Amino acid sequence: MSQTSKWVDIGKVSDVPVRGSRLIQISGGGIALFRTSDDQFFAIDDRCPHLGGPLSQGIVHDQRVTCPLHNLVIDLPSGEGQGPDGGCVRTYPVDVQGDRILLDISKLTRQKVA
Ligand code: FES
Repeated sequence: MSQTSKWVDIGKVSDVPVRGSRLIQISGGGIALFRTSDDQFFAIDDRCPHLGGPLSQGIVHDQRVTCPLHNLVIDLPSGEGQGPDGGCVRTYPVDVQGDRILLDISKLTRQKVA
């Protein structure tokens, strides 16, 4: 963890269904937290780069999520949309300590200060 990280405890591993998601409301924006079928966790902005669809309501497959509005596929590790007009969403580091999920919100903090 870097010196500028700001980790917050956002809940238990069991709070997020396998191949599912949870919406985290933090001042500065909504963050979609995803759990893949192999129990990896990824966090990205809950706003599709196409027209702002709620990515937390999308379908998780492999390490990707498909937006529920127009089916743009987002790569969860990079936040990049697949395709020529894919765009990109911000990603957030996630750490799992035992049964607790930690989220680094330092990017949100820096954004508020700027
Ligand atoms: S808003 Fe997500 S694909 Fe259009």
